[in-house]
Amino acid sequence: MTSPPAAAGIPAAVRDRAQVLREALETHNYRYYVLDAPSVSDAEYDGLFRELQALEQEYPQLLTPDSPTQRVGATPSNAFAPVTHRAPMLSLNNAFADADVENFDRRVREGLDHESVAYAVEPKFDGLAISMTYEGGALVRGATRGDGYTGEDVTANLRTIAAIPLRLHGRADRLPPFIEVRGEVLMLKRDFEALNAAHAAAGEKTFVNPRNGAAGALRQLDPKITASRRLHFFAYGIGAVEWGAAAPPATHDALMQRLADWRFPVAAERDVVQGLAGLLDYYRRIGAQRTALPFEIDGVVYKVNDLAQQASLGFVSRAPRYAIAHKFPAEEMLTEVLDIDVQVGRTGALTPVARLKPVFVGGVTVTNATLHNEDEIRRKDVRIGDTVVVRRAGDVIPEVVRVLVEKRSGAEREFAMPSQCPVCGSHVERPEDEAATRCTGGLVCGAQRKQALLHFASRRAMDIEGLGEKMVDQLVEGNLVRTPADLYKLGVAALAALERMAEKSAANLHAGIEKSKRTTLTRFIYALGIRHVGETTAKDLAQHFGKLDALLAADEAGLLEVRDVGPVLAASIRQFCLEKHNRQVIDELRAAGVTWPETEQAAKSAGRLTGMTFVLTGTLPALSRDSAKELIEQHGGKVTGSVSKKTSYVVAGVEAGSKLDKAEELGVPVIDEAQLLAMIE
Ligand code: IVH
Repeated sequence: MTSPPAAAGIPAAVRDRAQVLREALETHNYRYYVLDAPSVSDAEYDGLFRELQALEQEYPQLLTPDSPTQRVGATPSNAFAPVTHRAPMLSLNNAFADADVENFDRRVREGLDHESVAYAVEPKFDGLAISMTYEGGALVRGATRGDGYTGEDVTANLRTIAAIPLRLHGRADRLPPFIEVRGEVLMLKRDFEALNAAHAAAGEKTFVNPRNGAAGALRQLDPKITASRRLHFFAYGIGAVEWGAAAPPATHDALMQRLADWRFPVAAERDVVQGLAGLLDYYRRIGAQRTALPFEIDGVVYKVNDLAQQASLGFVSRAPRYAIAHKFPAEEMLTEVLDIDVQVGRTGALTPVARLKPVFVGGVTVTNATLHNEDEIRRKDVRIGDTVVVRRAGDVIPEVVRVLVEKRSGAEREFAMPSQCPVCGSHVERPEDEAATRCTGGLVCGAQRKQALLHFASRRAMDIEGLGEKMVDQLVEGNLVRTPADLYKLGVAALAALERMAEKSAANLHAGIEKSKRTTLTRFIYALGIRHVGETTAKDLAQHFGKLDALLAADEAGLLEVRDVGPVLAASIRQFCLEKHNRQVIDELRAAGVTWPETEQAAKSAGRLTGMTFVLTGTLPALSRDSAKELIEQHGGKVTGSVSKKTSYVVAGVEAGSKLDKAEELGVPVIDEAQLLAMIE
């Protein structure tokens, strides 16, 4: 800490207290902004800050420019004045492909006449290069890169960046008398999001990316505005330096450690690696972390670690031979929305998709980007003809991030969700509490066809053996099946003509389809694939209505009477039943011979088997084990696993085993499937 110029007349206790407060505030500041590990609350910090402010007000002689209270000042007269860098700020050559890195490493090895070289590796920050001059440990000037030789004075703005030390930390006699610290000013992703959200809410211009946000903040005439934009800083090197009493570091890595000791933020991701393999491995490692980092990077930088080796390699034109930037593909680019289409997904959700003027982003050419749903389009206010920021990070689907409203000509068109499914023409609905708009033509919609058929055939629905994913793909793609009703029109010959389908398996599948015709109302309702209707609801509906036509005719009020059916479910069922395409398929299914035992309304039929306990054994001719169980339960009966004196009936099929013997032994009546059905119908 520099001593105040005129300490005369200040009580020693006050001077000491001011010193303690400054050091405490600097340390808290460092812990908060650089280490991201605060050790006091905001309120405690504010208390210390105000105490120091009060002392400085009472004893103005105490005040030094590097006091933590002096970060935000008035606009200085030298704002943006030219500043000549003592050592020029050069640029880096770029590598894009692995081969470029290979060449770089080869040239370095040849230049040094070494087999393998150690490299310091670090992220390439996507911000603005700046140079800060410290004299006697105090920040005296900060400047932009400019043309590399002369930049602009932005000292007052840089002082507001909490992560930048106003004084180098450490013993005064060990600090360099003069040093240019080089690094990158940037905006953290979260601060950028908050800034843009605030600007959008206030109807002000938003920024394309954090880099532009940072540039805008640094170019403010009023440092108070810069301060409010929350900039961050990372040091990555130095320019001119006089080391003074301290020994100069021997490697870039040691230099970075020195910068960290002085309390500059340095990349936690930096490392030292060996040779080409080490470089390429680092590139992939950081690439995988890129999206998760709190700041934007556009690549990684490789630097020969040994500073003497760096010096011996020197420069070509304006870039060093000892370093190179290995760039990542840009994740965000600007392009134009040519149109907005709607895609229908496997579950019937309608997704608006922006058709884009082709643009190279994230390493591939992008022509489409998802707009997710109607609310997202409204929130981002995306219109046809807009200039937009498109983002593609990793393997995720490209996305429209935001619109550049200032680029509008007035000819842009707003998008409206269609009222009918673009694939099948069925009505679309948007349930009140959902973001998605959906097609209601579950049984007929081409987009939902495969999913609908798989569900229809699944074990707990119609239980069609042999109708798996591959088979459904073939049937749908070969245009043999459009709706579940078409399944029942398939002959053995048509099935046998399918790829990899032997005569025998075709016959088996055909038999499976035929067998599924005899089912239960619960299974049939479940098989329809009505949104939100799972097995339990299907069972409740079957029990409540007893007959399919009663369900189809029920209005929402009627549906709400069913156990556990709420408004969302009732609306979904009603929508499904009203869609005429769905009704047509149901009629066709019935016409094809799909049947189930129907009952009168639940109230009247329930209990026909009440109080009775059944045990199932052997293979029944039509009903599967599950269907028979459901049927019995639907009529109030119970199904248990073992025969006892309490068993009312044993229902026996082919190859009934020991349970049949047990029944005979205990004198429990044995019936077959037909007798069971007769008890109900
Ligand atoms: S070293 C002599 N290291 O990339 C080389 N630069 O073209 C000095 N940058 O504008 C640069 N991250 O601002 C270096 N870790 C890093 C960097 C980095 C970003 C920027 C730098 C410069 C550009 C180089």
